[in-house]
Amino acid sequence: MSSAHQLRCTDCGDRIPGASAASDFRCLLCGGLYEVVYPWSPGNSSSDLTDAAAARLPNPSALRYLWAERRTSTMAIDQSGVWRFRDVFPILDDANKAVTLREGNTPLYDLPRNAKALGLDFLLAKHQGMNPTGSFKDCGMTSALSVARERGFEWVACASTGNTSAAMAAYAARAGLRSIVFIPEGKIAWGKLSQSMDYGALTVQLRTDFDGCVRVLTDLVKRFPIYLLNSVNPYRLEGQKTPAFEIAEQLDWQVPEHIVVPGGNLANSAALGKGFLEMHHLGLINKVPVISVIQAQGANPLYRWFTDSNRIMKPVEANTRATAIRIGNPASWRKSAAIIEKLGGWCEQVSEQEIALAKAQIGAEGIGCEPASAVTLAGLKKLVAAGRVQPEERVVLILTGHTLKDSAYTIDYHRDELFTDAERAQLSPEQAAEHAALRKPPIVLDPDTDTVIRTLEAHMALQPA
Ligand SMILES: Cc1ncc(COP(=O)(O)O)c(C=O)c1O
Ligand SMILES: [Zn+2]
Repeated sequence: MSSAHQLRCTDCGDRIPGASAASDFRCLLCGGLYEVVYPWSPGNSSSDLTDAAAARLPNPSALRYLWAERRTSTMAIDQSGVWRFRDVFPILDDANKAVTLREGNTPLYDLPRNAKALGLDFLLAKHQGMNPTGSFKDCGMTSALSVARERGFEWVACASTGNTSAAMAAYAARAGLRSIVFIPEGKIAWGKLSQSMDYGALTVQLRTDFDGCVRVLTDLVKRFPIYLLNSVNPYRLEGQKTPAFEIAEQLDWQVPEHIVVPGGNLANSAALGKGFLEMHHLGLINKVPVISVIQAQGANPLYRWFTDSNRIMKPVEANTRATAIRIGNPASWRKSAAIIEKLGGWCEQVSEQEIALAKAQIGAEGIGCEPASAVTLAGLKKLVAAGRVQPEERVVLILTGHTLKDSAYTIDYHRDELFTDAERAQLSPEQAAEHAALRKPPIVLDPDTDTVIRTLEAHMALQPA
C-alpha cells in the first residue's frame, strides 16, 4: 500500500519515494518541505493515474458510505476517526498495524450566542480538543508514528510547545517506542508537561524558546537514528487532513464557506487545505471553503508577511500567553500561505486581551478551549468587521486544544490576574465591561447559611452576560 505514495517537494517539485527522505525531512535539492502525493492527487502530472477511478479508489458515494459504515465496526482502525478515512492516505504497508487511540470523530458544535453577537446566521466549532490527549495533534501523530513503527525506528522525538509532545509521548507508549521531548523551559502549560511525563517520555526542558528547541533537535536527528515527529514530517499532515473530511461528513457533504484556524508552526492550516482540495478533486464535495489563519499579535510572522508589500518572511521573537502558538519562525509558512492564497483567505492577528475575551466567550457557551484555540473567534470578529465573512456564510472555527490543557490561564483570567496594568489600561470602558461581565471568580465565604443565601441572592438578581 505504501508504495502507492511519493513525497513531492512543495518548493521545487522534486519527487522521492517515501522511505528516501532525509532525517530532517528537508528536500536535498532546495531545503523545502515535502507533501505526500498519491496516484490520484491533484496536480500529479508525472502519473497517468490522475483520477480516482484510474487509481482504483471507490467512487465518491461508495467512499462516503464506507467511511460512515466503519464507525459501527468493532475494529480499532475503523473506530478511529482518522483511519476510517485510510483510503485517502495509503501510507502504511499494513493499515491494521496503525497505532491508534481512537482519535478523531470529534464533535462539531454550534455557537449560537457568539453567532448572534457577530451577526452571523451560523457559527460552528470543530472541537479537536476532544481527542484522546486533548488536542488536534493526535490526528497527525497516529499517522506519522505508525510510519515510524512500520519503518523499524526505536526512538522518536519532537520539539514542542506542549501538545505535540503530549500526543507523541502517548502514541509512542502505545506502540512500545521510546520518545524524547524537547520543550522550552517555563514556556509551556503545566497540563501538557504533565502528560509527557505521565506517558513516559524522556522530557528535556531547554533554556530557549520553541524555535531554539527545533534547532537542537534538527541537529540531533542528523546524528542518531531518531525519527523526527515535528510537523515538517509530511505524514503528520496526512492524519491532520482528516478533520476536513469529518467536517464535510458532519455537514452532509455540504462544505461550509469559511474555516478559521489558529496559526503557530502553520502545518494544521496546510493539512486542512490539502484535505479539502483532495476531497474536491475526488468529487466528494462540490466546492472548497476559504481558509483563514489567525495568529497572536506577539507571534505573528505570517500576518506580517501578508501585510508586507515586499512579501518577505521575517521570523519574530515570539511572545504570547497562548503558549501553543508561541512560534516566531514557522516551518510550514510557505505551505500555509499557499493554501490561504489559493482558497482566498486571509491571515489576521489578535491581541492578548482579544484572545482572553474570546476564550471566555467560547467557555460561556459550555464548550471551552485553550487560549491558542480562542484566537479563531477573536480573529473571526475582525474578518467579519472587514467584510471578509458575510452574515449568511457558514463558518467553522477549529478549536485545537481542550480547556483543561491550560487551567492556570483560565483561573488567572477569572481572578483578573492575567493582564498587566499596561494591558488593562489599553481596554476601553466598553471592553473592560465586557470582560467584567464574563469573569466568574470563585467566591470565598464562611460556612454560614444566611451569608451564603444573601450572597447568592445578590448574584441571582444580576442579569446573565
Ligand atoms: C492548541 C494549539 N493550537 C494551534 C497550534 C498551531 O498549529 P500549527 O503549528 O499547525 O499552526 C498548536 C501547535 O502547537 C496548538 O498546540
Ligand atoms: Zn525541493
